[in-house]
Amino acid sequence: MVKITTICCIGAGYVGGPTMAMIALKCPHIKVTVVDISQPRIDAWNSDELPIYEPGLDEVVKACRGKNLFFSTDVAGAIRESQMIFVSVNTPTKKTGLGSGKAADLTYWESAARTIAAESKDNKIIVEKSTVPVRTAEAIEKVLKRNCSDASVQFDILSNPEFLAEGTAISDLTAPDRVLIGGKIENEAGQAAVDALAEVYANWVPKNQIITANLWSAELSKLAANAFLAQRISSINAMSALCEATGADVAQVAHSIGTDSRIGPKFLNASVGFGGSCFQKDILNLAYICECHGLKEVADYWYSVVGMNDYQKSRFVRRVVSAMFNTIRNKKIAMLGFAFKKDTGDTRETPAIDVGKGLIEDGAQLAIYDPQVKEDQIAYDMEGMMGNITCYKTAKEALQDAHAVTIMTEWDEFKSYDWKEIYDVMQKPAFVFDGRLILDHDHLREIGFIVYALGKPIDPFIKSAEGA
Ligand SMILES: NC(=O)c1ccc[n+]([C@@H]2O[C@H](COP(=O)([O-])OP(=O)(O)OC[C@H]3O[C@@H](n4cnc5c(N)ncnc54)[C@H](O)[C@@H]3O)[C@@H](O)[C@H]2O)c1
Repeated sequence: MVKITTICCIGAGYVGGPTMAMIALKCPHIKVTVVDISQPRIDAWNSDELPIYEPGLDEVVKACRGKNLFFSTDVAGAIRESQMIFVSVNTPTKKTGLGSGKAADLTYWESAARTIAAESKDNKIIVEKSTVPVRTAEAIEKVLKRNCSDASVQFDILSNPEFLAEGTAISDLTAPDRVLIGGKIENEAGQAAVDALAEVYANWVPKNQIITANLWSAELSKLAANAFLAQRISSINAMSALCEATGADVAQVAHSIGTDSRIGPKFLNASVGFGGSCFQKDILNLAYICECHGLKEVADYWYSVVGMNDYQKSRFVRRVVSAMFNTIRNKKIAMLGFAFKKDTGDTRETPAIDVGKGLIEDGAQLAIYDPQVKEDQIAYDMEGMMGNITCYKTAKEALQDAHAVTIMTEWDEFKSYDWKEIYDVMQKPAFVFDGRLILDHDHLREIGFIVYALGKPIDPFIKSAEGA
C-alpha cells in the first residue's frame, strides 16, 4: 500500500477548504495543497479574511498555512506533485438541456478530470469529495483513461462523500460520526487505494468509524443521507401547518415524538424551510436518477419533500400578508437573518430569498440585517429587487420604524436583544413573525407584540385579522 505524503484538492470551497485544513492539522507529515481556478478565492484563503465564515476555521488554517497547508491557483503543478487528488468542485443543478432543473451538472467535475488526465505522469488516487450521481466514478474513470497520454498511468477512483454541516464544519470534521470510503474493493488495487485513504483518516478518526463500501453504495449513500435529513424537516414542517390549523403546538409534538428512540430528537425543528446548497439539489438529483430508472413513484415521493419545502415558504409569506390586514404595500418589514442557517454566511437556497421575493411582490420594503452576509451577496441573490431592499449593518437600524420583523435565520444574537426597546421604536401594531422558533413568544406578547410563531397556536389578533 502506498504511503501518502502529498495530497491536493481541486476546489477551495465550503468543503474543500475546511476538509483539507483538517487533514493538514491532523497529518503534519502530509503536504496538502488546495487549488482553485478562482484567483480571488485563493487570495482570500491566503489572507486574514477567509472566503467563508465557519466557527473555528481561522484557528485551524492559521496553525497549518505555510507549513503543510498551501492554497494556490496552480492546478496543474499541484496535480503533478500529489499522490492523492481530492475533487471538491461544485456540482449544481443543471440549468439547461436534458435533466434541466433536476440532474447534477458535472461540467466542473469533468473539466477537473480532464486536467488531472493531462497533467498526470505517475499513478494517482482520485477521491470524489463532491456529491455526485451514482456511477459518476465510472464515467470519470473513462475520461481519465482516454485523456491521459501515458497509458501506464493508473488511476484508482474512490468515493469519499463529505457529511459535514456548514456552521459546525470544524467540529464535524474533528469528530465525524463516520467516514465513508467507497472503492473497487473487489480487486487488489482498489482495496489498496481504499486502505491508503483510510490510513490518512486513521490519524484522528477511530478505525471502527471508517466505513468502506463499494463505489456505487458510497455515491448513493450521500444522496440518500441528504434526502432523509431533508425529509425529516419537511415532515415536521407538514405537521406545523396542521398544528396551526388544530391549535396543537409543533414544539410539543416534536418533543413528544423525538423522545421515541426509534425517531430521535434531531432535525425535528419546524422552520420556514430548509436551504443550503445541498438538500434541494441532491434530492432533485436523486429523484431524477429514479426517473431515469423508470421508478416514477419513488421519484415522486422524493419530489414531494421539495414541494413541501416550497409550500412552507409560501405559507409563511401568506401569513405575514394576511396577519397585517392583507396589505404590506410600502410597509417596512425587517428581516433578521439572511443566511440559510446560523454560523455561516452562505446564502445558497436560503428561504430568505423566496420569502423576501414573496413579500416584495406584495409591495413590502425590506430592511435586511444579517451578522455575516454582506450587502453585495444580498444584491446578487435578490437581483432586480434592490429598489425594495435596504441592507443595514445593525439590527437596530433595520428595526427602526418597522411594521414587522421576520426571523429568517436562528442566529443566537437575536435571542439576546432587548425586545422591549425594539417594540418602542417600531410602528404599532408591531408584529413578530418567528420563522425559526427561537424567541420567547410569551415575553414578546407581554411587551405588546402581535406574534406569529410557526406551528404554534395562532394569536386571536391574527385570527381576526384573517377573518377566521
Ligand atoms: N457545502 C456543503 O455543506 C457540502 C457538504 C457536503 C458535500 N458538499 C458537496 O461538495 C461539493 C463542493 O461544494 P462546496 O459547497 O464546497 O462548493 P463551492 O462552490 O463552495 O466550491 C467549489 C469550488 O470549486 C472551484 N472549481 C470549479 N471547477 C474547478 C476546476 N475545474 N478546477 C479548479 N477549481 C474548480 C470553484 O471555483 C469553487 O471555488 C459539491 O458537490 C457539494 O454538493 C457540499
